[in-house]
Amino acid sequence: MPSVIPTFALKIKTSTITNMKEQLKKIMVGAGVVAALGSCAGNTASFDEIVANRRSVRSYDSSKKISEEQVRTLIATTQEAPSWANAQATRYYAVMSDTKKQEMLPAMLGNQERAGTAPVLIVTTYKRDQSGFFNGEAANEVGNSWGAFDAGLSNAFLVLKAKEMGFDTLIMGLRDADALKKVLDIPGDEIVMSVVALGYGNQVPKRPERKALDDILKIK
Ligand SMILES: Cc1cc2nc3c(=O)[nH]c(=O)nc-3n(C[C@H](O)[C@H](O)[C@H](O)COP(=O)(O)O)c2cc1C
Repeated sequence: MPSVIPTFALKIKTSTITNMKEQLKKIMVGAGVVAALGSCAGNTASFDEIVANRRSVRSYDSSKKISEEQVRTLIATTQEAPSWANAQATRYYAVMSDTKKQEMLPAMLGNQERAGTAPVLIVTTYKRDQSGFFNGEAANEVGNSWGAFDAGLSNAFLVLKAKEMGFDTLIMGLRDADALKKVLDIPGDEIVMSVVALGYGNQVPKRPERKALDDILKIK
């Protein structure tokens, strides 16, 4: 056997390699394999890859911290989300200190163990009577639920941006709103929605089955 590989065998065009990489990426996303690769850090992931990679993660590596600057970048992105008449009624409380986290954990009810390992817990609230309101009057039958709608949109930006930054998240709706209000000094005119765990996941959950597209979409 020749010990030297003939040079012509190595002459593969760079563009061919790039194309092959792109094809491979598409196949991997389609098969859900990219999820197993975990983080999307590095800003090279496409929107579809970020969406495919995001999963609700229920256990975090508590030794890996997140900086205040990273939290600020994350929440600044949520500010680009649309909101009713640009009401921007969503508010965030990012709990980063261990002391405060321990204080708020009892309010996490059945989610205590899941929330406990995350380095950051972000409480989402919205100001009552702003989103969906004009001059203090509800614009339609939805009323304050528009505030919840806007907060949900904002959380969607949050979890996708977090994934892009290389983090994992878990949106939690099971929590004691009154207890959170007390621990975090949340004003009375704010309605508590989710608590989002933010951190570096130490598990790669399977993608829960989705309904068939035609079950949720009717084209008329
Ligand atoms: C509004 C809302 C509330 C949720 N509450 C909880 C919760 O309290 N505890 C939990 O473990 N997961 C919670 N989840 C996560 C969902 O179970 C999860 O999004 C769903 O199973 C789909 O999985 P995926 O996020 O990995 O795609 C919640 C998600 C949303 C959007």
